Amino acid sequence: MVRFPHLACFDARCGQRYGLHEIVYACGKCGNLLEVANRFEQFDTSKIRNAWQQRRLSLAKVDVSGVWRYREMLPFVTSDEEIVTLPEGNTPLFDAPAAAAYAGLDSLQFKHQGYNPTASFKDNGMTAGVTQAKILGARRVACVSTGNTSASMAAYAAAAGMQAVIFLPAGKIAYGKLAQALEYGALTIQVEANFDQILALVRELAEDLGIYLLNSINPFRIEGQKSIVIELLDQRGWSVPDWIVLPGGNLGNVSALGKGLRELRTAGLIESFPRVAVIQAAGSAPFVRQMRENRDLRPVRNPETLATAVRIGNPVSWRKAEQAVQSTGGRAEAVTEQAIADAKAIVGRCGIGCEPASATTLAGIRNLVRARTISPSADVTAILTGHLLKDPDYAYRYHTGQLQTPSGEPIRAEFGNAPVSVPHDRAKIAELLERHAGGTAPGSDR
Ligand code: F0G
Repeated sequence: MVRFPHLACFDARCGQRYGLHEIVYACGKCGNLLEVANRFEQFDTSKIRNAWQQRRLSLAKVDVSGVWRYREMLPFVTSDEEIVTLPEGNTPLFDAPAAAAYAGLDSLQFKHQGYNPTASFKDNGMTAGVTQAKILGARRVACVSTGNTSASMAAYAAAAGMQAVIFLPAGKIAYGKLAQALEYGALTIQVEANFDQILALVRELAEDLGIYLLNSINPFRIEGQKSIVIELLDQRGWSVPDWIVLPGGNLGNVSALGKGLRELRTAGLIESFPRVAVIQAAGSAPFVRQMRENRDLRPVRNPETLATAVRIGNPVSWRKAEQAVQSTGGRAEAVTEQAIADAKAIVGRCGIGCEPASATTLAGIRNLVRARTISPSADVTAILTGHLLKDPDYAYRYHTGQLQTPSGEPIRAEFGNAPVSVPHDRAKIAELLERHAGGTAPGSDR
């Protein structure tokens, strides 16, 4: 009798299994990534939906968390005592009419993961990853990161009393994220290489030094991260949208989305899949190429984008991502630096805001509507992965017309809103306000 949950090779043809407490990230037999294999056939769906709803009234830590509220879907944890929570999840679902109009849609919703304790979607996964680290008795956890994973891991490790060791591509992470890692007390190591190169090195190092690795190759991170789609569907009263659109970097998030959807369907909580669209920055788009060519991933050697969160050329989870996209009839799409910058400004104009990588979603939706892949009347939800304040430099530069692509091309401040200066003079200020009496932002009347 096979016991669930256990760790299994993602490649079903390989079929290799591992115990939940083995520290292993890739299959020893075939090299593929692993996943937590769960069994959800026995769910009483109306009972479980009710229980999840009731927990919204509870004050217990594990009920307040928007990850552990759904703990029946994360059965690798057997005792509430083990859970490390800050608490995470409970992120809002916004209607964004101005963004919908920009994309050519009748309506559009944003699920904003930037409303998490460390202001990115990584917290949903990290609470599960650090909980597993605690179950295993780890004292030291490590990750390679473009910024958000490190900020999140640093916070959860601090909360759990563990040492956080983070490896960053030197000079290529946004200041908000670096500041978080320092403040949460992580040992912060900047390496003169890109994310892909550092991850390859640290994977070997972690094995040799016995450090518990919390990159998204860690299957327990994925378990936590799948709660994003569970909460999203719960918030929508279990009505499945036509499309879910999200950015793609290392492709852990889309892998978690795919796993969440599969398991929700097995559990009988949904009956159909949304189509999943992954959007990448054109200078870092190996997955878009993979899907177009319909072959194994070929890495992009020198990935570039101002959306530093997704400056990744050799995403580790490409097989899982491929399954998520193919099994839902989804798409992968690339967007330019200019399109990302403008889309980001539009998300801001909705009163919502996000970091550059998150804005790839709106830019991608706009392309897919123009190409008639997404119908204007489609029910579309985009996942905003990080908060506007993660990368304030980018926002300031855009609005003041100083933003340039990685190759030095100017980015037009199409929706720019530069600050205006006035002397300390009553009449001059009154005159300025008169000029902007329409209620529009100063930059928009150019
Ligand atoms: N959006 C943001 C804001 C991110 O930080 C990341 C990834 C992604 C999207 C892409 O998600 O990798 O699961 O496909 N950030 C990682 C990090 C790589 O180190 O923080 P993905």
